[in-house]
Amino acid sequence: MLKAFLTAARGPTVCLGRCFSSEVSGAVSKLAGFSSPPFSTEASLYVHWPYCLKRCSYCNFNKYIPRSDNQDVMLECLQRETETLLKLSQVSRITSVFFGGGTPSLAHPAAIAAVLETVARHAGLSEEAEVTLEVNPTPIGSSKLENFLHAGVNRFSIGVQSLRDDDLKVLGRDHNTQHALQTVAEARRLCPGRVSVDVMFGRPGQSVASWELELDELLSVCDDHVSLYQLTLERGTQLFSQVQKGQLSVPSDDITAVMYESARRILQNRGYLQYEVSNFARNGAISQHNMSYWKASQYLGVGPGAHGRFVPHGEGGVCREARTQTLEPDVWVREVQQRGHGTRRRIPLTHLGLLEEVLVMGLRLIDGITHQHWQLFSPRADLHQILSSSSEVQDLQQTGLLILDDRGLRCSWQGLALMDSMLPTLLLELEAHITQGLQQQARVSGGPHHPGAPAAGQGVWRPTSPRGSSSRPGCPA
Ligand SMILES: C[S@@+](CC[C@H](N)C(=O)[O-])C[C@H]1O[C@@H](n2cnc3c(N)ncnc32)[C@H](O)[C@@H]1O
Ligand code: SF4
Repeated sequence: MLKAFLTAARGPTVCLGRCFSSEVSGAVSKLAGFSSPPFSTEASLYVHWPYCLKRCSYCNFNKYIPRSDNQDVMLECLQRETETLLKLSQVSRITSVFFGGGTPSLAHPAAIAAVLETVARHAGLSEEAEVTLEVNPTPIGSSKLENFLHAGVNRFSIGVQSLRDDDLKVLGRDHNTQHALQTVAEARRLCPGRVSVDVMFGRPGQSVASWELELDELLSVCDDHVSLYQLTLERGTQLFSQVQKGQLSVPSDDITAVMYESARRILQNRGYLQYEVSNFARNGAISQHNMSYWKASQYLGVGPGAHGRFVPHGEGGVCREARTQTLEPDVWVREVQQRGHGTRRRIPLTHLGLLEEVLVMGLRLIDGITHQHWQLFSPRADLHQILSSSSEVQDLQQTGLLILDDRGLRCSWQGLALMDSMLPTLLLELEAHITQGLQQQARVSGGPHHPGAPAAGQGVWRPTSPRGSSSRPGCPA
């Protein structure tokens, strides 16, 4: 259960008896200086670099081993697709950029600079905008850090994964502990306070004691941000079949739950405040980019397999869409060359669909969903109206897992580790409330009911678009 949501947050392409105090979590928001309103003229941008030098044994991300050096064509297409999606969304300001992968640290720094120039040419990209690059801590990656900095990157996210050479081998990584330590040190020298490390637990053969020792070692060398991921056994990976065949074994769910709780405690004792299920920061070094996902803001996704969520104003759209780019790089390149983008799937989000995202993403945050934030998406129905009368929700509150109060809705400290078990209840209540509103509206208007159509008088809904997109389900402006 814990596994499912700890890993669910890995980008757009998831302690009993202890409550996280509201003072601490409030301080996190202040330090982050994050403004939540999802202005339709703003968005964050995710850029996917789909290549890796080798396949890690556990990874099922959208990544490929390059057959030849096609960086030039890749760059040309990333720029072209960025330009197209910026025009389509009519976004005038990009608030943050995240280069993820795959292994984007394999890209030439000049390619990173060129994508950023494209963004700056077609939309605003302020000097302060957070620009993150995922870095594999190999000698190749670390030798280019300074050039990436000159290219416009101002935050590094380093895939350390483990500080144990034997484990790195089992995971199929092409770096060792020494490389990881050198890369972190170099990144901190270049970008102090803006370096994050990814580390995985629940690895084959790992014990709670060895994990605690390793995390302690990591915290004595790392910077101000840590992302903690529970290893997920993904079907189709080498690790999955090794475990299936009994060649390797991973810790049980009970043990990984203990690992998660001990990590939360260790991180907190070392001054890293948990602000999301898998993310911890000190000195306010919260990831602004990832925050935009958890706050359900608009984002554009560029590159093979990237995901986006935005309103295509440029073609008269009034509805936020969930968009996915074509997965396979060669096919994606052809599509971008032919029509300017490689969007493979577009799903218009209904009012309910959008509220579900606000709920599911927002509950991952320690601060949860404030009433003000919810109101931006649901001006007519507040969280109390939707949830307070449900006896199941009341039970969750009484068991101390869920809090619904004057601030909003959030998980307690212990509830955060059980979030996915609470989601079905909350989503059902939300759906029942929205459906009921729609039925009432249909009765009042006496007309046929269109599923997902806007409720009467709801300010965020545009019943009909000037370009006749009224056949689409209702959607937020
Ligand atoms: C897909 S990688 C891309 C960045 C870079 N190539 C790397 O490996 O560090 C991003 C992060 O996803 C996490 N990840 C990938 N596969 C995972 C899995 N099966 N279980 C848990 N975490 C995983 C790793 O922690 C990794 O740092
Ligand atoms: S380097 Fe990262 S993206 Fe590439 S295979 Fe390994 S985990 Fe996956």
